Amino acid sequence: MTKIIHEINKDIYSEDTCFIPTMGSLHNGHISLIKHAKQTPHSKTIVSIFVNRKQFNDSQDFHNYPIDIANDIKLLEKSDVDYVFIPDESYIYPNKSFREINAGPIGILYEGKFREGHFDGVLTVVNRLFELVNPSAAVFGKKDAQQLFLIKEMVKKLKMNIQIYEGKLIRDKNGLAMSSRNLLLTDEAKENASNIYKILLNTKKNFQDSGSISESISYGKSLFGKLGIKYDYLDVVDDNSFIAPDKNSEKLLLITAGYIENIRLIDNLEI
Ligand code: PAJ
Repeated sequence: MTKIIHEINKDIYSEDTCFIPTMGSLHNGHISLIKHAKQTPHSKTIVSIFVNRKQFNDSQDFHNYPIDIANDIKLLEKSDVDYVFIPDESYIYPNKSFREINAGPIGILYEGKFREGHFDGVLTVVNRLFELVNPSAAVFGKKDAQQLFLIKEMVKKLKMNIQIYEGKLIRDKNGLAMSSRNLLLTDEAKENASNIYKILLNTKKNFQDSGSISESISYGKSLFGKLGIKYDYLDVVDDNSFIAPDKNSEKLLLITAGYIENIRLIDNLEI
């Protein structure tokens, strides 16, 4: 039975939980994280739904963020989640007596460069949620690769005893990375949005053929231009450090953020 809670009590605090923080408007990407959590050895699953104002640098973006709590609860009951935690803002941020986390140097690159303060807001809320829920483990999706990297870094740095699991990026049938923001797209825009994934695939192919990161990035950028899709960045990082790769890099990640109908979409691909 799924229990809906607005505050964490002592019993839940001391349970062996696997935690999946979300901002709601749930889709198959979120559901895959729940399935992942259920396969871990932890006895209970807990999903939070909280649209965190602090991580939106643009108040219009915050106000436009899609909300559908009734449908979310239905999906979570179907997925047999143990607890759905839906806190009030005042419970998360009580009279400013909470710790503000600074995301550090990687927090101002890529997403952080175009969304100032975004990752400070993400880490502040994740730290606060961890403090309240006290989970044994948590699952985050690779869809938000930079966020996942920074959360792992925070857990290490603050010596939190929380195991972080990585959920793979889930796409729709056209290859578009699933996102709550996709709800803001018209059907036509959704078709167009899947071109972002196609650009990543073609950039990867170019990299495999040419062996040159810079050449493949220029090629990928030219594809954005040809298709008339505005983008903030297209770059390759070392998956382990989120900085430019060097000869010791084991895993390379192609990352991008583009705009379809003024909706900002992010995506990434291992190359
Ligand atoms: P939200 O965008 O709701 O995402 C919640 C979790 O679902 C994140 O770990 C995200 O990476 C994962 N996710 C979203 N789309 C996915 C997809 N297509 N495939 C796999 N995983 C996907 O990320 C946030 O919320 C917030 O920043 C949060 C961490 C909750 C802090 O407010």
